Order: sequence, then C-alpha cells, then structure tokens
Amino acid sequence: APLAAPDISKCGTNPLSGFKPGENTPTGGDCCPPNSTLIKDFEFPTNQAFKVRPAAHLLSAKYIAKFNEAIKRMKALPEDDPRNFLQQAHIHCAYCNGAYTQSSSGFPDIEIQIHNSWLFFPFHRWYLYFYERILGSLIDDPTFALPFWNWDTPAGMTIPKYFNDPKSALFDTKRNQAHLKGVVDLGYNGKDTDATDIEKVKNNLAIMYRQMVTNATDPTAFFGGEYRAGKEPISGGGSVEQSPHTPVHRWVGDPREPNGENLGNFYSAGRDTLFYCHHSNVDRMWSLWKMLGGKHKDITDTDWLNTSFVFYDENKNLVRVYVKDCLLTNQLGYDYQRVDVPWLKSKP
Ligand code: C2O
Repeated sequence: APLAAPDISKCGTNPLSGFKPGENTPTGGDCCPPNSTLIKDFEFPTNQAFKVRPAAHLLSAKYIAKFNEAIKRMKALPEDDPRNFLQQAHIHCAYCNGAYTQSSSGFPDIEIQIHNSWLFFPFHRWYLYFYERILGSLIDDPTFALPFWNWDTPAGMTIPKYFNDPKSALFDTKRNQAHLKGVVDLGYNGKDTDATDIEKVKNNLAIMYRQMVTNATDPTAFFGGEYRAGKEPISGGGSVEQSPHTPVHRWVGDPREPNGENLGNFYSAGRDTLFYCHHSNVDRMWSLWKMLGGKHKDITDTDWLNTSFVFYDENKNLVRVYVKDCLLTNQLGYDYQRVDVPWLKSKP
C-alpha cells in the first residue's frame, strides 16, 4: 500500500531520531508544525502566471533584491505562522528526523523518512512548490520562481556570491568558511582534495554524467528503492540523491558545528536558504533526466503514485498532495530556464 500523509496532530519527537524534546530548535519544542483540523485537497494552479526558475548565478540585481525581500518577510512572520521561515525549515526536520510515524497507514511504530528511497524526488518537489508560492505571495509577485543553484555547469559551481553578504536575508553563518568562494566538489566525502579548480570542474562534469546517465538507466536507479506503508525506509537512494545531492549538503555544512549544521544535517538543512536553491537544481535534474527519453520515465507503481504528503500553502491552509500530481512541472505552473548542459558531453 502507499504511504499515507502523516497525521500532524500526532507529530512528536520520536526517540529513534536521537533528539529529546526541545533539543533540536533554538525556540524549544521540536519540529512539529502547528495543527490544523481541516485538510484541503490539492488543486492545480489556474489563472496564474507561469514561473520560470532562473539559474542562481545569472540573477539580475533586481531579482536578487526580490528574493532577499521575500525571505526577509518570511523570517519576519510570527513564530507560529506555518509560513514562517523556521516553520518551513521544520518541515524538512519533521519528515526526516522521525517526528512522524506511519500511524495514518496503520503502522504507528514505524517512522516516516523521505530520504533514501523513491520518495526523495516527489517529496522535495512538493516542498519547494509550496515554499515558492509562499515567497511569491509575501512579495505579491505570482511570477516569483525559486532560483536553482546551477552546480552542474562551470560558471555555477560556487556558492552564488550574494549568499555571502552578511546583511542579506539569504546569509547563513553556519557554512563551511573554507568553501564560501571555492569550486564545489560534487563528490565531497568530508575531505577536501588538492585538485585544482580546473580539475574540480572536470571531475564534477564527469560525476554529473555518471549519475545522470551511466548510473541512472532506469527509474529504480534514478529515483531510488521502493518505500511502501509498513516498510522501513531503508531501500536505498537513487543515483542523484546519493551524489551530487548529499555531497553538496556536506560540502556547505559547517564543520565548526556539532552536526554539520546547517546544510549538512537533515534537521537543520532547511534553515539555510541555499537549501532551496540546491533543491531547485536537484528537482531540475528530474526534469532533465526525463528529457533523455527512452527508459527515462517516471515510476508507474501505484504505491509510488498514490503516496501522499501534507503541506501548508500560502494561505495557511493544510493541503494534501499526491505524488501522481507532481510529475509534470508544467502542470504545477513552472519550468526551468534553459541553460547549457555541459556534462551531457562529458562522457568519461
Ligand atoms: Cu531532504 Cu537535500 O535533503
């Protein structure tokens, strides 16, 4: 059976997560969202401006200011507003650090973990979908689209520089200080290599080719292993989830922090705005992979298609969404700026 959306009223601190109540947020408590007795069913956006997610390193000064303003407003919302910045970060914590069990699927003793399985891509797509709409509504701009950190192209392989401005709402102190300006290592395993920038770029393009083409020849290889109701989430992540997705998290995370906060740990990753641009590019990989044609198709298993999640929308309504409704970004009202895809020509 498909995994059913968690009952958020039963959200708690799962002892399995290793966190005690109050331990994992500075404001106390745990990472549970405010409760809602009403759950709406998702409807596709209509009569809405189409959004084109732009490459983060190509943004105009005007767009950067808009992005900054939207995040600033999100941070200024009341702490218990589900659209508040920290509340939004908590979504990731709740779905990844054992706050939810599979009680609504009839398995209250098994936790929900959306990583390392076929739920990785659809969960994060939905998460960003609502995040982007909240940002757009806070600045009253329905065309606002989340920039993607274009780490798969040479010019995009550093942290976009406006993220390093301490006065910006996009700034985060908890990042690896040695990596603020350097070329990202898409295969980072916790240790810096002594490769030159030119070598790093070349390695990165080879990693992209390997993970998007060589190691992703069919849906299971790309999306990751099955994860159904009643199962433990241990079936294995897909090629891109394993790398470059996870290495980029670890590469940005701050080694001065006990758990690689912020980006280097599930519970705290959403507290760094870079997370959303990182995942915008991860999501773009899903679209690009399907464009390769042939066997590069979405999973057809009905348990995957009928898996559901709940998110708060820009009007603070709790909405139930299904995986089957997120397969086409056009239907969700967005697409990605067309940029060069250099790794396609980087077959090792
Ligand atoms: Cu939910 Cu990039 O992790």
